[in-house]
Amino acid sequence: MSPPAAFDGPAADRALAAHPTLGGSGSDWHTLVEQYGSPLLLLDCDVIRRQYRKLAQALPDVDLHYAIKALPSKAVIATLAEEGCGFDIATNGEITLLEELFVGARRTIHTHPIKRDADIRRALRYGCTTFVVDNIDELEKFLPYRHRVGLLLRVSFPNPSARVDLSRKFGCAIEDVHELLAAADARRIHVKGLSFHVGSQVPDASAHVLAIERCAEVMATRRRDAVAPLSIIDIGGGFPVSYDGNVDDIELFCAPIRQALAELPPRVRILAEPGRYIAAPSMTCVTTVVGRAQRGSRIWYYLDDGVYNSFSGQIFDHTRYPLIAPDAKGEVRPSVLAGPTCDSIDVIAEDIMLGEMEIGDVIVAPMMGAYTAATATTFNSLPKTTILTMAAPVTLELEDSNVVRIA
Ligand SMILES: Cc1ncc(COP(=O)(O)O)c(C=O)c1O
Repeated sequence: MSPPAAFDGPAADRALAAHPTLGGSGSDWHTLVEQYGSPLLLLDCDVIRRQYRKLAQALPDVDLHYAIKALPSKAVIATLAEEGCGFDIATNGEITLLEELFVGARRTIHTHPIKRDADIRRALRYGCTTFVVDNIDELEKFLPYRHRVGLLLRVSFPNPSARVDLSRKFGCAIEDVHELLAAADARRIHVKGLSFHVGSQVPDASAHVLAIERCAEVMATRRRDAVAPLSIIDIGGGFPVSYDGNVDDIELFCAPIRQALAELPPRVRILAEPGRYIAAPSMTCVTTVVGRAQRGSRIWYYLDDGVYNSFSGQIFDHTRYPLIAPDAKGEVRPSVLAGPTCDSIDVIAEDIMLGEMEIGDVIVAPMMGAYTAATATTFNSLPKTTILTMAAPVTLELEDSNVVRIA
């Protein structure tokens, strides 16, 4: 894994000034920390709106369903609900979140391929009727509910070039699709389409294109054999964001996907389940140096946030975030940024070159919206980082203990 981008001094100011919503100098972060404490996650719902609109424009005629797991925030969900976005749910907890915000079940799909009967019943009670399966046992779980549901069959397309390959754990082999569809036909369970997830943060759209083409072949065979036609392809998530400046603009990224979708027969409905693309740029972490020590040739800075908390994505999501040190001064030295817990794995960045920092200085990490707060723990009995929410829908009441509205 490559080390994170680290900036200090004037480079930090330039990076901050270029930041879409948080342009400013180091002193702004200190004002926020004085007012709200540290660490902080700044959530900007205008960025959520912008990302949703950009993706919707890059994929016209695709019904976007935000994958709540990326950032299960009420402010994010309410913002996307206002925009007309649908929702990808995977658990009962995610259903409860939507219910609390009065989001109608008609705009949801349940995408967890493995469910207990109680989970199916919970989702049906909510009103969700589209579910994903990927094997015969899961299919048979829907026998009692077959008059109330339409299923998507998830197909596996392994993709080692994705940052997180999601086809190892879920999805049937493409060779098994016809047999599973025949099993559904025999049980009179309605499979209305195919779904896939080619992995999260993919480098280019080739995996999406291949998967769309293979699904189109399955659909064509069904039509030729005059069996119940499939009318939906769910192209999953995977749409990448730029953590280090090396990712194509979403419009360019989606061009081959648009082309592949244009080859599908008319009246095929296309769904997608973006998580990272919508959430990642929406949050910026501000964490404070609470201690420092010279150890060998390196200076260790101990921060009040780390890999057990907001930086948990470094472990679970294999992601390194850009780091900005707006207060660092003077000659750069080999430095380590460590988190606050007692565990030695709790290190955010090693062997980075930074100017000197004092206790009380801040480190700022943009691009921390997806798979960060969502996977944070309270290890060492340290609380999860407070989320300061900007530009959330005015009607929204933010009740969570660690969420504060600031604008
Ligand atoms: C079923 C499913 N859909 C959508 C997503 C969101 O993917 P991404 O964040 O890559 O857009 C995930 C991520 O784990 C997933 O498992």
